[in-house]
Amino acid sequence: MSCSKNKHPADQLTVGRRSFLAASGVVAAAIATPSNLRGAAADEVVFASAFHDTPDRVWPGPLYWTNPLQDWRIAEGRLECINAAPGRNIHLLSHDIASGAGEFVAEVTLGSLDAEQLSDSKGSAGFLLGVKGELPDYRHHLIYGRGIFAGIRAGNELVIGNGPQAPKVKLDLASSSVKLILRASLDEDGMKPVVSLEAIDPTTDTLLATVTHKQLAAVDIAGNAVLTANFAPPAPTGKKNAGTASGPPERWWFNHWKLSGSLVRYHADRHFGPICFVHFTLHDRQLKLTAQLAPLGEFDSPTVSLQFPGAAAESKPIVAKIDPASRTAHFATKEIDPALDTKFQLTTYLTSKSGKQTEYSYEGIVRREPKHDEPLKVADISCNAHYAFPNIECAAAVAKLDPDLIAFTGDQYYEPSGGFGVDRSSIERSLLDVLRKWMLHGWTWHELTRSRPSISIPDDHDVYHGNLWGEGGKEAPGTVPASEAKGGYKMFAEFVNVVHRQQTSHHPDSPAKPEKQGITGYFGPLTWGGVSFAILADRQYKSGPDGKVPATTSGRADHVNDPNFDPSTADLDGLSLLGEQQMKFLKAWTTDWRGAAMKAVISQTIFTAMATHHGQNNNLLVADYDTNAWPQKARNSAVDLLRQSAAVHLAGDQHLPAVVRYGTTEARDGGFAFASPAVNNLYPRWFLPQQPGENRKADDDGHLGDFRDSFGHPLTVVAVANPALTFAGGLLEREVQKSAGYGLVTFDKQQRKIEIGMLARCWSIRRKKIRSLQDGQ
Ligand SMILES: [Fe+2]
Repeated sequence: MSCSKNKHPADQLTVGRRSFLAASGVVAAAIATPSNLRGAAADEVVFASAFHDTPDRVWPGPLYWTNPLQDWRIAEGRLECINAAPGRNIHLLSHDIASGAGEFVAEVTLGSLDAEQLSDSKGSAGFLLGVKGELPDYRHHLIYGRGIFAGIRAGNELVIGNGPQAPKVKLDLASSSVKLILRASLDEDGMKPVVSLEAIDPTTDTLLATVTHKQLAAVDIAGNAVLTANFAPPAPTGKKNAGTASGPPERWWFNHWKLSGSLVRYHADRHFGPICFVHFTLHDRQLKLTAQLAPLGEFDSPTVSLQFPGAAAESKPIVAKIDPASRTAHFATKEIDPALDTKFQLTTYLTSKSGKQTEYSYEGIVRREPKHDEPLKVADISCNAHYAFPNIECAAAVAKLDPDLIAFTGDQYYEPSGGFGVDRSSIERSLLDVLRKWMLHGWTWHELTRSRPSISIPDDHDVYHGNLWGEGGKEAPGTVPASEAKGGYKMFAEFVNVVHRQQTSHHPDSPAKPEKQGITGYFGPLTWGGVSFAILADRQYKSGPDGKVPATTSGRADHVNDPNFDPSTADLDGLSLLGEQQMKFLKAWTTDWRGAAMKAVISQTIFTAMATHHGQNNNLLVADYDTNAWPQKARNSAVDLLRQSAAVHLAGDQHLPAVVRYGTTEARDGGFAFASPAVNNLYPRWFLPQQPGENRKADDDGHLGDFRDSFGHPLTVVAVANPALTFAGGLLEREVQKSAGYGLVTFDKQQRKIEIGMLARCWSIRRKKIRSLQDGQ
């Protein structure tokens, strides 16, 4: 086997004249030469797939993105779509189609996996032309792009267009495969595209039919280059899970995908994987780093190696096995000096079918630990529905502030993120399903997490729950939403552990012992830059309300809408919030001040029930058992520990950015807490109190001051950023109106002062500092 070192996946690209390609299929390292970037001659192939030389595996390679991941695979030298369902597609990352004058040609050979003759097929397959979404970024188009179909469909039709009026011709599909050639040209003004589609019998090279479309708008043909299978009408309105929608029972294979022409643009920086992103922490001199990989195949490298090039004590590479379920490689070492910036490099390799190994690397830097006289900036990031994926504006705004630590406080993605609902059909498919969603998170933030520590705590949606009362890992009594409030996890225990591994395995060592079903824990300490953090899991051990508290009248066991609700009726003995072993850890942590001048607790949600209205601004909710105001006694014990350690509490979850002060027996006898904004707000909440707050400053409005929360706890609202009452306009404008963004918490250790910047309206690149707070004393 040969082994070449190549940071860019150029080995899967082919360049040159058709005759050259046909003879060799060779990879050209010259792919990035200027002549390949624009202006190629009409017959010059600037991209050719190498599926024929890719070993069997789910992931087609670094140049592609498949929707969804679990429905595609490379098998027997072809690309296959193995789920007969609508709207499956594969995007090419490295090349797209430009607007303006010029032309391009796309070519692919395809066949049915189910029908012996294509004339018997019931579905459709071919190209999608001009694929793009609302935001101008090729990664946004991967998820939200829509395009114009050009291919074959049931009824022996060759068609360009999506509706019944689309130009089409009949053709004889007597063979098991067909070659499609799509030609598009625009005149010198970059207008009036002419698009034609030829169907050719690949065994005889006979032209079967041609269809032409001259009515497309010029802008229509620019966008991502995409193949689609089982293209069919979308799932009925209101049906969240397109993955289970019934479509034409047809599965397809593809091969020999090629692009040529002057409108084909090459982008050397557009690829993803095999090492997709990293997360790391440094605590007690120990670096822990997790590399997230794409789903590699059995012929690819089973390991990843880690080196510190240029380090004073450069040592042998550390080699870690890739976990086959989570597709992660884990490293722990005390070999680096926390006082210095340390570069790291990860490497692994892919193997072609012909036996060629290509090495891939991923680099980053473990920045030196902030000194005690330097402020420590922590970004609090939560709740990302990925409407604006890849969230460029928000990631750029966070990067500009250059936080020392990022706390991803939960809901790193939601069940609908990426567009295909939840796949519970098998453990392997559900693991690929969640990996694709986790990749949306990683692709959004990887430029930040490769150069600073980050922690990540899974919240309910990360494990495919609307709400989670984990009861120590119990198996939930069903998978429907109503079973959640009875306590436990709906997904496979292995699935939950994979999510925990992906998100938390780079945290400092956790004292948590696995509990029910062997579900792992991740709570534990992190001391970094003179601040001692307690990383908590505030859903995993919490009691479920259904069957324990008085029955509700709302139709949901967790939602109380009775205006006469008495919270003392739900204040019961024997209920858990953080659980026994986590409370033991938290108690010990409160008095452990080694290496720290200040303390903070990081968990999924705040320990109060603040929001009054949910979903829509007129939807009053009297009480919500999902909040950590309940169970009251367990909550008060946790708030007492936070107060004893003067810890500020950083959280996410609420989608209602707020700074509050806890109370247990009276107002303001507890510490401060911050609920960060959602990055993309799936479910707005409001704090619209019926009475203005007491003891507020003269210039504060009625949303501020002392209140009682819906479970009877004293609650002081210091700052709140309610969403607008209604939302209108474009995608990003709506996120601004929904109070979307992120938080930044700065610890001034010398002054013992905490500054909280919230409602960072990153979608308009604007930061609003609400106020500075003295720490909890
Ligand atoms: Fe959320």
